[in-house]
Amino acid sequence: MRFVVTGAAGFIGSHVSEALLARGDDVVAVDCFTDYYDPREKEENASGFPVLRLDLAGDDLDLDGVDGVFHLAGQPGVRSFGEAFPLYLRRNVLASQRVFQSAAEAGVRVVLASSSSVYGEAERYPTPEDARAEPISPYGITKLACEQLAHAYATGFGLDAIGLRYFTVYGPRQRPDMFFRRVCDLLLSAGTFEIFGTGDQSRSFTEVSDVVSATIAAMEGASAGVIYNVGGGEEASMLGAIALLEQISGRTLDVRHVDRARGDVARTKADVSRIRDALGWEPSISLADGLERMWAWASARVAAR
Ligand SMILES: NC(=O)c1ccc[n+]([C@@H]2O[C@H](COP(=O)([O-])OP(=O)(O)OC[C@H]3O[C@@H](n4cnc5c(N)ncnc54)[C@H](O)[C@@H]3O)[C@@H](O)[C@H]2O)c1
Repeated sequence: MRFVVTGAAGFIGSHVSEALLARGDDVVAVDCFTDYYDPREKEENASGFPVLRLDLAGDDLDLDGVDGVFHLAGQPGVRSFGEAFPLYLRRNVLASQRVFQSAAEAGVRVVLASSSSVYGEAERYPTPEDARAEPISPYGITKLACEQLAHAYATGFGLDAIGLRYFTVYGPRQRPDMFFRRVCDLLLSAGTFEIFGTGDQSRSFTEVSDVVSATIAAMEGASAGVIYNVGGGEEASMLGAIALLEQISGRTLDVRHVDRARGDVARTKADVSRIRDALGWEPSISLADGLERMWAWASARVAAR
C-alpha cells in the first residue's frame, strides 16, 4: 500500500511513517519543518526516510496512486491565544481544508489527527466521543473546525475521513514544549521546572506506540465518518507523573509553581470503548513502562551530545 503521512518529521508523524515503512508500505512523507520548535529535531526524527517539503496551506498535494492519507501535520500546543492564532488557523484549518479537497477529488481516505482538546473542561469523565465539544483553547477550536470541515467534505463531496482524538501523547521524540519532555530535559540539566497551577491537573497519557497502532487500525478498519478517542488507560496527575519520573531517573526535580496557563484543562480521561468495540484497540503500555522508554531515549540523546 502507498500512504501519504503529513507532519512526517514531527513527533507522532515520524513514528507512524516508520511503522508503515517497517511493514513494507510505501510512504510519501510530507512536512514543511515549521519552526514551532527547533527544525533540527525534526531532521533527527525523519533521519530514516526522505521527506517531501510541502507547505500544505499553500502547496498542492498529489494523491495519484495513493491509498490513504494520515493527516498529522498541524500546529499543536494549547497556548494559542493572541498573536499565535493566525498560525493555528493556517496550519490546522487552512492546511486541512486543502488536504480534504485533494483527498475528496482523488477518492482517498484521510485519517485526521484531532485532539482531546475539543472537549474543553469535559462534561463527564471518562469522556465518550458524544460528550459536548466545547474547547477552551483556540487550538482546540481549530481542531474541532478540522473535524467539522471533514464532515462537511464528507457530506458535500463524499470524503472518507476518520477523526482520532488523541489524548496527551508521550514517548521518544516527544515535542520539547510538552510536559514529560520538559521534565526529562530538566532532570538531566538539573534545572527548575515551572509547573502551571497546583500540578493536580491530570491526563490520560498515551504512549506513542499505542497511538501508532490505533492510527493504522483506523485507516484499515474504521467506518467512514467515525470519530474515536485514542487515550491511555491510566490517568495520572502532573505531580504524580513527576514522582514516577524521579523514581525512574533516580534524580529529584526542582519544581516551582507558576500561574495556570489559559486554555489548559484541569482533567482529561478518555472513554475508549468505541474504538475498542469497533477495532479491538486498547492502550497496552503502562505509564511506568512508557516513562522508562521515554527516559531512556531522553537520557541517551543528551549523553550523545
Ligand atoms: N502530541 C500530542 O499529545 C497530540 C495530542 C492531540 C493531538 N495531536 C495532534 O497530532 C498531530 C501531530 O502532533 P505532534 O505532537 O507530532 O506535533 P509536531 O509539531 O511534532 O508535528 C507536526 C508536524 O507538522 C508539520 N506541519 C505543520 N504545518 C504544516 C504545513 N502547513 N505543511 C506541512 N507540514 C506542516 C510541522 O513541521 C511538524 O513537523 C498534530 O495535528 C497535533 O495537533 C497531538
